Amino acid sequence: MAALAIDGGKKIFANLFSLASYPTVYSETARKLSELYLNTRAWSYYGEHEKKFAESFAAYHDSRYGVFMANGTVTLECALVALGIGPGDEVIVPAYTWMSTAMAALYVGATPVFVDSQPDTFCMDPAAFEAAVTPRTKAVIPVHLFGSIADIDTICAIAGKHGIAVIEDCAHAHGGKWDGKGVGSFGAVGSFSFQQSKIMTAGEGGLCTTSDEVLFDQLSRLKHIGNAQDSKQHKPMTPPPLGLLCHNYRATEFQAVILQSQLDHLKEETALREKGAAYLKQRFEVIPGLKVQARGHKAAIQNYYVFAVTLDPAFLKPGITRDHIIAALQAEGVPEVFPGWCAPVYKHKLWNVETSKYRIDSCEIAEDIIYNRVILFALMWLMASRADQDKLCEAMEKVMKEYGK
Ligand SMILES: Cc1ncc(COP(=O)(O)O)c(C=O)c1O
Repeated sequence: MAALAIDGGKKIFANLFSLASYPTVYSETARKLSELYLNTRAWSYYGEHEKKFAESFAAYHDSRYGVFMANGTVTLECALVALGIGPGDEVIVPAYTWMSTAMAALYVGATPVFVDSQPDTFCMDPAAFEAAVTPRTKAVIPVHLFGSIADIDTICAIAGKHGIAVIEDCAHAHGGKWDGKGVGSFGAVGSFSFQQSKIMTAGEGGLCTTSDEVLFDQLSRLKHIGNAQDSKQHKPMTPPPLGLLCHNYRATEFQAVILQSQLDHLKEETALREKGAAYLKQRFEVIPGLKVQARGHKAAIQNYYVFAVTLDPAFLKPGITRDHIIAALQAEGVPEVFPGWCAPVYKHKLWNVETSKYRIDSCEIAEDIIYNRVILFALMWLMASRADQDKLCEAMEKVMKEYGK
């Protein structure tokens, strides 16, 4: 058996190897940015690019309205405010997510309640959600984690039964379709992020989708210091509902230009990543002890924020852990492989909140995935050449052969 590179053997990626950088840049977009900069001097305040982008992004996801904002944290906060959620209310969130999902509840004075994941999709377990419902539960925020779509039919049905609002956190799932319908169109509000690492990015940015006219108006005002979406500077304005405490969470025309061009290419890029993911899945799943994160069972289209796999520790030699596997892959010259968030939200180093104040229903599955099982590959792997993907599979096979039982 070939010695692992970590033990001094020959690397699979012999030369320094790096994946193509992401996101893809287009010269046409550079031209539009330059035109906006040099010729219009109208760089914010619901300009023509924002209008076009918000409308076309919402339509792509089968929602009537889009409200473009500064990031995918304030979108969650505004969604909760627009739905009237505040002090005394409970908001159910998954344990396995980025902390913004839970922070949004804190920002509005509500209480986050953490629930466990499904072992295959890693997304919120609908049964755990239902078990956590109390008379104080007013909202649930399922996350389409890493692009895998949460069981949104079941979650919406449970929420409907208990009169709970659903906010879909779609920060990882741009372009995803469940049963043919866009993510973000199932709940009352969908929340997207365009932060640097995301599938679509302008460095920063966020967007709420909704099909409800009243929510649309409230979301628009919440981000636009009380103004309705299409208000123009120095024109008479209609006042917001009394007591609606609004912010400046606006984004710029430059961001809208960049994102529009990514939206124009989203379909073809998604198809490319789906093809890459299908290939890697087929190669990885013949390796004993490895499983690829499952797609939502009705995910007609899944975009991939990352390509996630889990290890079954029972297949590893005694003393070998997930972190040994990652280190060995990196030593083989595999770039962009990592364990992801190091803890569930409520134990994350940045979760600067006294957790004992919050209810955490048993989240053993999420904890086991995060601490022991998950390995993430950046989405650039799904767009790499077949030859490079084959070498990645070779590296995985080599490491698992050596470290497997
Ligand atoms: C699941 C999830 N929700 C919300 C956010 C917040 O988005 P942003 O960083 O744009 O505030 C992120 C990401 O960074 C995320 O991963």
